[in-house]
Amino acid sequence: MQLSTRHLLGIKDLTPGDISTILSTASQFKEVLQRPIKKVPSLRDVTIINLFFENSTRTRISFELAEKRLSADVINFTASSSSVAKGETLLDTVNNILSMKVDMVVMRHSASGAPHFLAQHIPAAIVNAGDGINEHPTQALLDAFSITEKTGKLKGTKVAIIGDIMHSRVAQSNIYLLKKMGAEVTVCGPPTLIPKYISRALNVEVSYDLKETLEWCDVANVLRIQLERQNQVLFSSLREYSLAYGINRRMLDNLQKDIVIMHPGPINRGVELDSDVADSKQSIILQQVENGVAVRMAVLFLLSGGRNPSDN
Ligand code: CP
Repeated sequence: MQLSTRHLLGIKDLTPGDISTILSTASQFKEVLQRPIKKVPSLRDVTIINLFFENSTRTRISFELAEKRLSADVINFTASSSSVAKGETLLDTVNNILSMKVDMVVMRHSASGAPHFLAQHIPAAIVNAGDGINEHPTQALLDAFSITEKTGKLKGTKVAIIGDIMHSRVAQSNIYLLKKMGAEVTVCGPPTLIPKYISRALNVEVSYDLKETLEWCDVANVLRIQLERQNQVLFSSLREYSLAYGINRRMLDNLQKDIVIMHPGPINRGVELDSDVADSKQSIILQQVENGVAVRMAVLFLLSGGRNPSDN
């Protein structure tokens, strides 16, 4: 089993076949993770560095756990406690690390395109763990895995992506993936948080009406407001945002069906989601996190040229 690409920089570069291969390999790893002994030798003697130049809870722990379950040697790098703080460039930092015989790089960076830049200059395989407002490919893959697990399919499933679409790498990766796999996608949020030409550029529907969108969808993937990426005022206050686009229990109870609620985390409770929605039976937020480990195992395994994971 092989992917058509040497790195995972974005969903944009993957074929539908690549996506199916990753999702089916992740299913096999999910089965491995139910066993009493969860560790397999697939990446023994492979050394992976997790380079995080931006904060993370879920992605970082999930990659580290995936690497350890695959028996890789794992090194964690945090920019704030490194020589980056003394002015070392990204390329110098990474070349120094690679000279110590590191095979794969998992990288999160606040600059869109940072992993793409690195891929042009270093020989190691790179996995993008989120770059600026560009892509978060493993999040979209674990979201797709979780939707399939819950609804049985991606093709024809109506997925609403709700919130700050403009600044969200999760939104962009999800849109690429869902459209490639035949899902129907609507983005919903205030006009100031939805890029003007998204409908034409990415072939999605746009709605500014939350109630209408919830009535239409099977799955609502709810995003947080990315205040750290906004350099101008795009809505009057979080309270105003919450009144127009926050999802509460009453709204879900008024629908004629049970929709699936997703969120990539971290949640701003009481802003985009009330707790009685985030913690309800309709929410699969913690299943998304659980599935992230199997999906990241699949990505690392396939990029290292893996054979059938059942052979482990
Ligand atoms: N979903 C996600 O990327 O979460 P973290 O920022 O905690 O990694």
